[in-house]
Amino acid sequence: MMVYVHLIFLSTFLSVSMTSETFDAMEGEALVIKCPRWSSSVKVTWYHTDTNEMIPAEEEGSRIFSLDRFLWFLPTSREDSGNYTCVIHFSNNRTRSFNMNVQVHPYKQGVCFPSRIRYPNDTGRGKIVCPTIDNYKTAAIIQWYKDCKPLHGQRYFKGEKYIYIKDPRKEDDGYYTCQFTYTRKGNVFNVSATRIFISGAKHSPLSPRILFPKDKDVIEVELGTALSLKCQARLGIKKQPLAVVTWDVDNIPVKDLSVSRYHEKAHSFEGHEQVYYKEATLHITEIKKEDLQANFTCVALNEMHNTRATVTLRLKAQYEGLQ
Ligand SMILES: *[C@@H]1O[C@H](CO)[C@@H](O)[C@H](O)[C@H]1NC(C)=O
Ligand SMILES: *[C@@H]1O[C@H](CO)[C@@H](O)[C@H](O)[C@H]1NC(C)=O
Ligand SMILES: *[C@@H]1O[C@H](CO)[C@@H](O)[C@H](O)[C@H]1NC(C)=O
Ligand SMILES: *[C@@H]1O[C@H](CO)[C@@H](O)[C@H](O)[C@H]1NC(C)=O
Ligand SMILES: *[C@@H]1O[C@H](CO)[C@@H](O)[C@H](O)[C@H]1NC(C)=O
Repeated sequence: MMVYVHLIFLSTFLSVSMTSETFDAMEGEALVIKCPRWSSSVKVTWYHTDTNEMIPAEEEGSRIFSLDRFLWFLPTSREDSGNYTCVIHFSNNRTRSFNMNVQVHPYKQGVCFPSRIRYPNDTGRGKIVCPTIDNYKTAAIIQWYKDCKPLHGQRYFKGEKYIYIKDPRKEDDGYYTCQFTYTRKGNVFNVSATRIFISGAKHSPLSPRILFPKDKDVIEVELGTALSLKCQARLGIKKQPLAVVTWDVDNIPVKDLSVSRYHEKAHSFEGHEQVYYKEATLHITEIKKEDLQANFTCVALNEMHNTRATVTLRLKAQYEGLQ
């Protein structure tokens, strides 16, 4: 019997080029791997590649067993890392074989998923499907993690096999791990699977922040000279559809004031990691006494909300005596 198996296996090796697929799993969790589906196949057999030993069907208490085109590890053990061959048998006695590489990762403090992620990235509107969960019939999601931290909060909606993030932003990008349980014959096993999520959002606002000037700053000036007041605000990631940075004088927008001494200019740019900034410069050609009584307020606004910083002008110390 063993010899017969061996011969089939060898002939397969000689006649068919092998493709290889890798499966990463955590130590002590359930793992099922699949041989590719072939409509004309009559049966599938599984082997340890190194030893050519056939892996039998499930028996009482077996930890590793084959079940048609599936190979089960209930649960995985560190020494299961290695290569497995599945052989598809066709009715005309021909076969085709595939190499499956299994990597079992030991638990490490602070590491909650294997560094090699085999599941495709999810990019888009916020739905992250739990990878592989469909392979386990009696699965129930226990917890979702982002970058190893449990996910909580009203922005997350948990479906049976997925999690939905409301209005995904750049900060939501990261590694998402679903942890679920699989129950077989009364035994409960943990399974975890991780994938990268990249928010499909073209832009995402950040709470607007005025980087300068500081609120309540007092700027020393000389009468009759020119002054440029520059305000810079951080508004989000990538170009924002609503991005306003502007100066008000005593709560009136500069553009609504007909003061020929005031000129305002704005420009925007993207900095490190696509952070989007906007700057507004109020240029005063000649400082007059009334400017010393005015509030100059920089207003920064985006889709989220608005923020402001007010500065006032004061005469330089040496001029005070001259007043
Ligand atoms: C498993 O198969 C891969 C690809 O065929 C090969 O590179 C690797 O050396 C094999 N590993 C072992 C332990 O035989
Ligand atoms: C397949 O192999 C069996 C046993 O060796 C043989 O009886 C049968 O005729 C073969 N069938 C084909 C289609 O070659
Ligand atoms: C998935 O996202 C990571 C991180 O951004 C990236 O390095 C990798 O190339 C992406 N993979 C695919 C298939 O898009
Ligand atoms: C499954 O994971 C949970 C939470 O991490 C843990 O408390 C439990 O002991 C694990 N169960 C098994 C069978 O490993
Ligand atoms: C300027 O702001 C201060 C503090 O908010 C306020 O007390 C004052 O009345 C403002 N002055 C004018 C001219 O609006």
